[in-house]
Amino acid sequence: MALAHTRIYGQDSPLQVLPNHRGYKAYIETYGCQMNFADSELVASLLHQEGYSFTTEVEEADLILINTCAIREHAEEKIWQRLRYLENLKARRPHLMVGVIGCMAERLRQRLFEESPVVDLVIGPDSYRHLPQLIRQVESGAKAIHTLLSREETYADIAPLRLSPNKVSAYISIMRGCNNMCTFCIVPFTRGRERSRPHQSILQEAIQLSEAGYQEITLLGQNVDSYNDQGLRFAQLLRLVAEAVPNVWIRFATSHPKDMLDEVLETLASYPNLTPYIHLPIQSGSNRILARMNRGYTVEWYLDRIAAIRRYLPQAVISTDIIVGFCGETEEDFQETLQAMKAAAFDSGYYFMYSERPGTLAARRYKDDVPLEVKKERLEAVIALGQQLSLESNRREIGKVHSVLLEKVSRRSANDLTGRTFHGKAVVVRNSAHTYKPGDKVQARIVEATSATLIGEIADARALGVH
Ligand code: SAH
Ligand code: SF4
Ligand code: F3S
Repeated sequence: MALAHTRIYGQDSPLQVLPNHRGYKAYIETYGCQMNFADSELVASLLHQEGYSFTTEVEEADLILINTCAIREHAEEKIWQRLRYLENLKARRPHLMVGVIGCMAERLRQRLFEESPVVDLVIGPDSYRHLPQLIRQVESGAKAIHTLLSREETYADIAPLRLSPNKVSAYISIMRGCNNMCTFCIVPFTRGRERSRPHQSILQEAIQLSEAGYQEITLLGQNVDSYNDQGLRFAQLLRLVAEAVPNVWIRFATSHPKDMLDEVLETLASYPNLTPYIHLPIQSGSNRILARMNRGYTVEWYLDRIAAIRRYLPQAVISTDIIVGFCGETEEDFQETLQAMKAAAFDSGYYFMYSERPGTLAARRYKDDVPLEVKKERLEAVIALGQQLSLESNRREIGKVHSVLLEKVSRRSANDLTGRTFHGKAVVVRNSAHTYKPGDKVQARIVEATSATLIGEIADARALGVH
């Protein structure tokens, strides 16, 4: 009965869908990158309009949506495991509706129904607008799927429903998709062509967040440096956002080494609320491997970009992504990666073993020929070097005073708050007198450091002239 949930008012008025899921509870579980987290908030907004409320208890949900990632095989394995658990849950709650959304939904489509009996709904990243219709389709007894990619969809008109309980930091998607075709990467296949969201809607969302008390906004795109809203580029967008919400710290990710312009760095240096934290994935330190990856730059180019960052922003914190064991990577190539890590003196990084993704250019062109054992050894070596570099970088902060945005009470101790420095380093701030709360910006003197975090104490506010 697909029409049971709709009402029609007279002949001329459009078919109007009224909220008809009052009393129903939805549970959304999100995997993968920040873009998926931002998408879950769009999906939540659409469900809210339908009358759904939200629960954090999977056991009491009427609708479960799993927002999935397909970047590595392991990411998908976790989802299959989760679906097996949901099979048990559904046996106990037969009316339960389960949807797989996001990148794995886009990659596997019908196969999700075939391989997991619990799945009722499959929705790709460009199809969330169809969610209400698709839910109705499932309610009428059919399975429902929508995985068409779009060249235009940016969801610019949908105000995300903020899911995180901390009302301090929020994401804004500024673009979707990716045109780069790095050979190892599934993202262009799961998220489609690159498109930029109109800057007006970005500014509007930033202002709303600021008015709601948010202290930090992260602008998201797979390659923010290619943002292009009818000629308005990323540097200009940064300027507009910085001016629209002068009291909010602005972060962004991800920058692409081949596209990152000095103009962006200059802009970052000229606004006090644009944070000098730059995530600049290098992927490999070997020019031969970079060419095979189709990254569009050489190590020399990459290191020149690092030098430019340090020139414009001496305080910058730079993090990176590295893939070890890509097709054809020799010991020599790998040693070059270690050298590049040292040369760049990364403050932190995310390190991965290459995982072949079906359908990508690398899967079609090259053999995944580095043995798993070798990949594991190389991963351990980059992790060890990465930790050493992080420790050195963090130790250099000892004795300095930093602006810190406090985000939440530490899981380890109610006397500590965790947060980030303006330049993006994780910090634990001692708060034994419970004077401060999440959302406060404080000045903290760094007293200790590990490779993962800084430890700070509130600096004497009066002495520093801070009010
Ligand atoms: N848009 C970002 C990265 C998105 S994916 C960029 O261009 O840098 C996040 C990271 O996952 C990548 O930087 C890469 O290091 C890693 N990754 C992507 N595909 C992978 C694969 N097939 N195997 C292992 N790691 C991969
Ligand atoms: Fe993937 Fe490359 Fe696009 Fe990043 S830039 S999302 S790694 S294709
Ligand atoms: Fe993000 Fe994973 Fe998709 S990294 S874009 S959720 S494949």
